Amino acid sequence: QNRQPIIAIDGPAGAGKSTVARQVAAKLGLLYLDSGAMYRALTWLVLQLGISFEDQCAIAELASQSEFQLVPEVDPESPQRVWINDQEVTQAIRSIEVTSQVSAIAAQPAVRKALVQKQQIFGQKGGLVAEGRDIGTQVFPDADLKIFLTASVQERARRRQQDFEEQGQPHISLAQLEQDIAERDRKDSTRKIAPLQKAIDAIEVQTDGKDVAEVTAEIINYYHQRLSH
Ligand code: CDP
Ligand code: CDP
Repeated sequence: QNRQPIIAIDGPAGAGKSTVARQVAAKLGLLYLDSGAMYRALTWLVLQLGISFEDQCAIAELASQSEFQLVPEVDPESPQRVWINDQEVTQAIRSIEVTSQVSAIAAQPAVRKALVQKQQIFGQKGGLVAEGRDIGTQVFPDADLKIFLTASVQERARRRQQDFEEQGQPHISLAQLEQDIAERDRKDSTRKIAPLQKAIDAIEVQTDGKDVAEVTAEIINYYHQRLSH
């Protein structure tokens, strides 16, 4: 078994998966895979093309035929750039519309099959930190380290509000953000296929009151502990 290590980070919306996974990857010299960006990009394309969400065949076809490009910026503080079929969608996939619809697309079995396969190809040689909802349970069940990142809904809503503020986006109340996050958690956790779930061998990292650097250090610690065994 000579493949490079794989670290799986799963958890609910706003737990810090993207931010922390990027930092862990940069510090350990590993690639970073944001699986959520793929579900978001596909959702954006479905909306753009005006395909009905009922038309699962057309969406599945689109999922398997589309080319997804996730390109990290040199600076690990900066989010990656995302393309689908040569259209840049970095900003567009973070819209309120995509955010509110993505869970419905992500619940379609054929969509998951197509995207999981692409993620597994991406990780064939290992050497990556992958984050999402089903990385430790479905995509890379043999990952060397599995982290389940959590935080209270209140904390996650506060983080989102701060993100929006920093990006100069219109103000959304905490109550509204809490409701949106709780609703997406509910959809992602109760779907029939590959629901958001802590893998039995995952380490749960509770992040309320911890900053990004602390959480990153904690995960890197677990990683070194694992490697020394
Ligand atoms: O960043 P945030 O937590 O808001 O969401 P994301 O990681 O970008 O994922 C967006 C949506 O994609 C989630 O709410 C899930 O519905 C879906 N997703 C999934 O089903 N499986 C994954 N491995 C990653 C994301
Ligand atoms: O990917 P996910 O939806 O799980 O979270 P994210 O998109 O990384 O957003 C998390 C936000 O909370 C970012 O603005 C982070 O700077 C901030 N944050 C964090 O990620 N981890 C902490 N321990 C504290 C704050």
